[in-house]
Amino acid sequence: MGKDVIIACDFSSADETIRFLDKFNRIKSDPQASCDSVNFAACRPFVKIGMELFYAEGPSIIKKLKDRGHKVFLDLKLHDIPNTVKKSMEVLGAYGVDIVNVHAGGTIPMMEAAYEGLMNGAARYAEKPLLIAVTQLTSTDEATMQRDLLIDRPLTEVVEQYALNTKKAGLSGVVCSAHEAARIHEVCGDDFITVTPGIRLAGDAASDQKRVMTPADAKAAGSDYIVVGRSITAAEKPLLAYEKCCEDFIG
Ligand code: C5P
Repeated sequence: MGKDVIIACDFSSADETIRFLDKFNRIKSDPQASCDSVNFAACRPFVKIGMELFYAEGPSIIKKLKDRGHKVFLDLKLHDIPNTVKKSMEVLGAYGVDIVNVHAGGTIPMMEAAYEGLMNGAARYAEKPLLIAVTQLTSTDEATMQRDLLIDRPLTEVVEQYALNTKKAGLSGVVCSAHEAARIHEVCGDDFITVTPGIRLAGDAASDQKRVMTPADAKAAGSDYIVVGRSITAAEKPLLAYEKCCEDFIG
């Protein structure tokens, strides 16, 4: 897998999701749309499915999206004892997901178990899924981490340590802020993947995101995948917004 733009499909139902993704069908037939200017596979964007949609629709949402030709990042952030995570990952791996994640806070043995389970589940697929880990949620700031979790270190140090643990466990990379991508590559190497949400096209509202970056800046910072939600899903012309993200990030 190379650099790509992943659309966060934060919708509450399969119908709403498919209606939104159907807007991308127009790229193919619309002569004004410069589909050829960026190389996105058959105009089927890589999509991220979160807990809300997965819990509402169940595994059928993954099959629907895969059957349409989308790659799927299943963002369920597993965190439990190693045996439970291993068994659960076996189930998720069998769905044919392309990226799935855990919390790095579950520790190295949990992440190793997750990896083993995922690979068992995905045994029949030629292209193996990527397993990545969330370091610290961006909703947790340093003060909260120190006061409530009694983690008495700077947040950046904790994020780096969690990234190193993730690498030690044999996972492919982490979900992190684009602001942390360069440092994580320094610590964990260039082939360790950084998947970065908190992306906004210039001029778009940051809304609830604290620290945002444009696709072009995320590219310069060394992000491997950007996760873009509202800058595309809430845009007046989502496919043009997507195309702009691809041009600026993939080049
Ligand atoms: O709409 P927006 O671009 O802010 O959406 C970002 C997506 O990335 C959402 O699905 C959000 O849950 C997810 N995410 C995030 N920050 C993290 C992890 C995931 O924004 N640290």
